[in-house]
Amino acid sequence: MRKKIVAGNWKMHTTPEEGLVLARQIMDTAHANEHREVIFFPPFVHLPTIQQEVSVSPLFSVGAQNCSDQEKGAFTGEVAAFMLRAIDVSWVMIGHSERRQYYQETHAILKRKVDQAIAHQLLVMFCCGETLQQRQEGNFREVIRKQLHESLFHLDAEQINQVAIAYEPVWAIGTGQTATPDQAQEVHAFIRELLQQKYGDSVASAIRILYGGSVKADNAQELFRKPDIDGGLVGGASLHASDFVSIIHAAE
Ligand code: PGA
Repeated sequence: MRKKIVAGNWKMHTTPEEGLVLARQIMDTAHANEHREVIFFPPFVHLPTIQQEVSVSPLFSVGAQNCSDQEKGAFTGEVAAFMLRAIDVSWVMIGHSERRQYYQETHAILKRKVDQAIAHQLLVMFCCGETLQQRQEGNFREVIRKQLHESLFHLDAEQINQVAIAYEPVWAIGTGQTATPDQAQEVHAFIRELLQQKYGDSVASAIRILYGGSVKADNAQELFRKPDIDGGLVGGASLHASDFVSIIHAAE
């Protein structure tokens, strides 16, 4: 059985002090359960502190929201995968729609980021998903297929085991408009089918596929009950300890 993941994407919110308070509140109230794990994705400057906090817990781990597509060198303002590894960060998020949309991260750039992460033994939370227009035009399967094929599916079967995929329809992110459990399940099953075609049954059935886009305390359980939805990547609701803990408890 796949262990569910509930991940909190804090985006560009909270000071390091506020972030530490938030993490502690969540860690103090969330129940451990062998069927789930929880990842905090705070801003870069929080990482050493939050990493230290989660290091004693079997339930929690920490990830960065981004990393450079370059190994090291004269790339002002960038943070390299090896630096994240050096402070024991476990995960890195790659391909979030806000990175694709606001920072022009192309398939080729994302592919290089994936390679950096894998080379430095980071686990990858790879995000994909279509815009509203792409959904309305009916070609969202092709959009997702391309996102996976161009940036992720060059990995071999061993490397892809270091990856979890987050399906995040852009029209559902931060809008309060969640995909229905059936809509999400349909896409998750499609992603698993793509994995199966490329890597075979055992890899496809082991990889976690999370849903993201306005996951809340009151819709998480229904989403997480779907057979191919292995947890959630949560933005807004991850900034409120009690909401996020309810979402964690919905993953079982
Ligand atoms: P949201 O964000 O839960 O606020 O919609 C999800 C995300 O962007 O990962």
